[in-house]
Amino acid sequence: MGKDKLKKWAENKTFDHVFEPPFEQAFKQESELPGTWHERVFGNDHPITLELGCGKGEYTVGLARMFPQRNFIGVDVKGHRFWRGARTAREEELNNVAFLRARIEFITSFFGEGEVDEIWLTFSDPQPRNEKKRITGPAFIDRYKKFLKSGATIHIKTDNTGLYEWTLEQLQEQGYEIEEHTPNVYGAYFESLSPEWQQIMSIRTYYEQKFAEEGEKIKYIQFRI
Ligand SMILES: C[S@@+](CC[C@H](N)C(=O)[O-])C[C@H]1O[C@@H](n2cnc3c(N)ncnc32)[C@H](O)[C@@H]1O
Repeated sequence: MGKDKLKKWAENKTFDHVFEPPFEQAFKQESELPGTWHERVFGNDHPITLELGCGKGEYTVGLARMFPQRNFIGVDVKGHRFWRGARTAREEELNNVAFLRARIEFITSFFGEGEVDEIWLTFSDPQPRNEKKRITGPAFIDRYKKFLKSGATIHIKTDNTGLYEWTLEQLQEQGYEIEEHTPNVYGAYFESLSPEWQQIMSIRTYYEQKFAEEGEKIKYIQFRI
């Protein structure tokens, strides 16, 4: 066990904006978190955006800086990864940020009906051998619908051509309203965006930077449930 990971896990325990419920609670649907995010966690009724598989939480923190009137929750199973975002949020006194350590398979254990307004899926694992595990796929979207407001938007940013094409195909098959999609965010598409959307798209996650350096084009899908 790396000392660094242990230090990050220990620091996460001191943060009141980090939630690390035991796996049992997720599995048995016994968490007290559903329905508490607005009032108990954020102390306001502002819209909530989730970043699922958030890694270091660049979108969670980057969007929270841009939109102080919204709340952002980064979710990942690896606490030492989102420690980075949790620490930055604390240092910058961003009171509209929280992190949740959870497996996305059990995400419905932590949010109540209609509690969430928007989701970002940032550089999700492509799971080339098991499409059932892809968190951009129909079985996962059915889970998200249990706590998303009706008509909510889901954003997907990925480097992976296979995941991009497969996800688009699944969404079309399921009849979702696809509002935007591009196989290359930073080409002509970027120039067509408003300054605000250019700023949103310019948030670069750790994996985005890594894949972009390897020459991968960054892809984006936006759809409504
Ligand atoms: C490729 S990384 C992307 C991280 C970050 N979004 C980025 O762009 O840098 C995928 C992340 O998803 C998390 N992850 C993968 N499957 C997960 C699952 N089933 N539940 C929770 N987190 C998951 C991993 O721990 C990892 O941090």
